[in-house]
Formats: sequence, structure tokens, C-alpha cells
Amino acid sequence: MLDLQPGQKVLDVGCGIGGGDFYMAEKYDVHVVGIDLSINMTFFALERAICLKCAVEFEVAECTKKTYPDGTFDVIYSRDTILHIQDKPGLFRSFYKWLRRGGKILISDYYKSAGPASEELAGYIKQRGYDLHDVEAYGQMLRDADFHEVVAEDRTGQFIVILQSWTLLGITHEVGHYCSSTGFGSCLSQDSN
Ligand SMILES: C[S@@+](CC[C@H](N)C(=O)[O-])C[C@H]1O[C@@H](n2cnc3c(N)ncnc32)[C@H](O)[C@@H]1O
Repeated sequence: MLDLQPGQKVLDVGCGIGGGDFYMAEKYDVHVVGIDLSINMTFFALERAICLKCAVEFEVAECTKKTYPDGTFDVIYSRDTILHIQDKPGLFRSFYKWLRRGGKILISDYYKSAGPASEELAGYIKQRGYDLHDVEAYGQMLRDADFHEVVAEDRTGQFIVILQSWTLLGITHEVGHYCSSTGFGSCLSQDSN
């Protein structure tokens, strides 16, 4: 989907402990910069990076306050983090500027169906402090930030299969319940011009 090429520079927004970053750096020989608000997560990521030869760097940073020179990255990636961000349009405008011409962005995140949420779901979203939208709205936000060739799609089915395989492995069952009742994943991919 991202067609990563050796030597490209990737930004992972909300990288957590960096699992996807080590994978991208080792498999595709790209240089990954991971940023995360959490000192603990970043510490684990840094600890994992010790002695590894792949090009990964991590920084504690609030993504809505972070700045990079225009055109710094070939790819911006973010998994399950944008739901924490209230000013998504502002962040997407920053992403557009941070990408080089023709760069790509890939985001996966939770979404909610269009229209009012059930009382149970609304309570959950409020309690977690999430800011969720429907898939179409996510796509439109990216187009409004000037991204082209935006694909915003529901990957709930794929996610459920993954969760079921975890359940079979005895890893979790609670997340599956949540996701099957809310839907998961606007998977967005687009080129900037
Ligand atoms: C659900 S975790 C996902 C972590 C990782 N992307 C993954 O898929 O394993 C969400 C992450 O977003 C980070 N986060 C939340 N708000 C953020 C912000 N404003 N700036 C940077 N990171 C943020 C959290 O600290 C957390 O590590």
C-alpha cells in the first residue's frame, strides 16, 4: 500500500512502543522517526532500539505541537492515535506540509457510524475522551487538507478476523466485543500533490 523504498523517511505519529517502526525499518530499510506523547511508551521504544542496527529514532512529542520543515517525510503513518486528537483538520494540514511532494499517508483508526451513537457507545467515547467521526467525514477532512487520491474505507471485517485469531490464541476477548459493536478502522491512503 505504501510501496516503501529503501532510504525513505517515515514519520510514525503516536508510535507507542514502536513495533511497526522496527518492522518497517528492518523489512524495507527505511528511516523511521516515531513520536509519542507518552514518556513510558517512548522509553520502551528506545530500550528496544538499543543494539538494533535498523534506522529508528524516537521522541516524546505532542503531535499537534510538533513542527518539521516542509517536505521532511516521504511517508506519514499513524495507527490508532488520531482518535485522541480533537483538531484533526489542523493536524492533517501539518501532515500535508511535512510530506514531500508526492508523499503518502496511511492512517488506521477507530470510527463511528454516521448519526448519533447509541447511549452505551456515546458514554464509552466520552469516558475515553475519543473524538470519533464516520469514515466519509475522515476522508473529507483529508481532502480539505488538500490530499489527493484519498481512500477512506471500513476495515472492520479485517480487524474482526485479527481479533478472533487473538481470541483463539487466548490473548483477548474484550476488545473484540467493543470493536464488533462500534466498527473499526478508517484506513486512509492518499498521495499529496
Ligand atoms: C492506542 S496507542 C497506539 C500505539 C501504536 N501506534 C500502536 O499501534 O501500537 C495510541 C498512542 O497515541 C499516543 N498519543 C495520544 N495522543 C497523542 C498526541 N497528541 N501526540 C502524540 N502521541 C499521542 C499515546 O501515547 C499512545 O501511545
